[in-house]
Amino acid sequence: MRTTVFVVEEPGGDFVQTEVELDDPREDEVLVRVVATGLCHTDLTVPTMLPPEMLPTVVGHEGTGVVERVGAAVSGIEVGDHVVMSFRSCRSCGPCTAGDVGYCEQSLLLNYMGMRADGSTTMSRTGADGQQQTVFGSFFGQSSFARHAIAYADNCVVVDKSLDLTRLAPFACGYQTGAGTVLNVLDPAPDEPLVVFGAGAVGLAAVAAARGRGVETVVVVDPAAPRRAVAEGYGATALDPTEPGAAPVEERVREATGGGAAYAIDTTALPAVVLQAQHALRSRGLLVALGLGAAEYTIDAIDLLQSGKVVRSSIEGEADPLVTIPELIALREAGKLDVDHLVATYPFEKIADAVADSKAGAVVKPVLVWGE
Ligand SMILES: NC(=O)c1ccc[n+]([C@@H]2O[C@H](COP(=O)([O-])OP(=O)(O)OC[C@H]3O[C@@H](n4cnc5c(N)ncnc54)[C@H](O)[C@@H]3O)[C@@H](O)[C@H]2O)c1
Ligand SMILES: [Zn+2]
Ligand SMILES: [Zn+2]
Repeated sequence: MRTTVFVVEEPGGDFVQTEVELDDPREDEVLVRVVATGLCHTDLTVPTMLPPEMLPTVVGHEGTGVVERVGAAVSGIEVGDHVVMSFRSCRSCGPCTAGDVGYCEQSLLLNYMGMRADGSTTMSRTGADGQQQTVFGSFFGQSSFARHAIAYADNCVVVDKSLDLTRLAPFACGYQTGAGTVLNVLDPAPDEPLVVFGAGAVGLAAVAAARGRGVETVVVVDPAAPRRAVAEGYGATALDPTEPGAAPVEERVREATGGGAAYAIDTTALPAVVLQAQHALRSRGLLVALGLGAAEYTIDAIDLLQSGKVVRSSIEGEADPLVTIPELIALREAGKLDVDHLVATYPFEKIADAVADSKAGAVVKPVLVWGE
């Protein structure tokens, strides 16, 4: 079928609207008419890392929509179902059968290679020379910066039709990662202070989950004033790391947490900030570095040893989307995950504005929406 997508034509280039030919869904695939897709920072980082032979590419990995066709081998999903599309996993390797689907042995192949696991691609278009040109996709098993997406039973979460898909899209990645990190990795007690570096969707979902859990002291560090204001709305202490004349950030965090945070989350992927996060911890504290970007971080080895701190990372907050997303939606319904106000919707045609507003910190979670 013909459909409309937004492609990246060159490394780190803009999203450009184009028409493609999309395959019919195979027997293990579903065709989803996309309603709304969140913009995650990863959609901006990955295109800067792509080799030229993987372009043009369609990203987008927080898609939601309505199922239009279902392959014969797919069970549990029906035409007309509303779905949230998250990341893929094979569901049969060692990590998958242990429930650790974020660490699936096929993860790279299923989420990042621009094609199906068998090497075929799902999209093509007519190039300027009149020849058919491959368009790479299958990003997180969806490539949902598109009007239609091919997805899978392992990454589609069926949700209640009464729910607003524009508010559910960020559960596919950003919220799942931030909230999942708090609930699945940290599991904080109310009197264990948390500091979050970076108040984007990942960081603020962590804050929302921590507050929903009753964590009393939450500190948020972000240079973007509008995002600090959102953090304060959660009752967090918000610090500006660029404040002129202020003490070093790690000192200010230690003061705000009565001697250091029990837990830190980094969502900036900035090496200097990751080091601040380590230093902001109390003895035996745990830092989870979630950002994607820097190739290397510096760890203070003496401090690590002397204080028994732990530095680790996490894929998607140790979530299994088929389990975690319904759990998080239930928490939202129960008023314990207050995230809806983080969303600002944009028509898909305004994707460049969504990117600019996100980069400026003016909005936390842009969600792109197709008109009828
Ligand atoms: N681990 C995973 O599975 C996973 C999943 C989703 C996203 N991510 C990554 O998580 C990160 C966050 O994603 P997002 O969508 O929330 O991004 P975002 O860009 O919206 O948020 C990052 C925030 O960091 C802030 N920041 C910049 N400099 C800072 C500094 N010196 N100190 C403190 N804060 C600073 C920015 O102002 C921004 O608000 C990205 O790197 C993304 O790729 C990882
Ligand atoms: Zn697997
Ligand atoms: Zn993401």
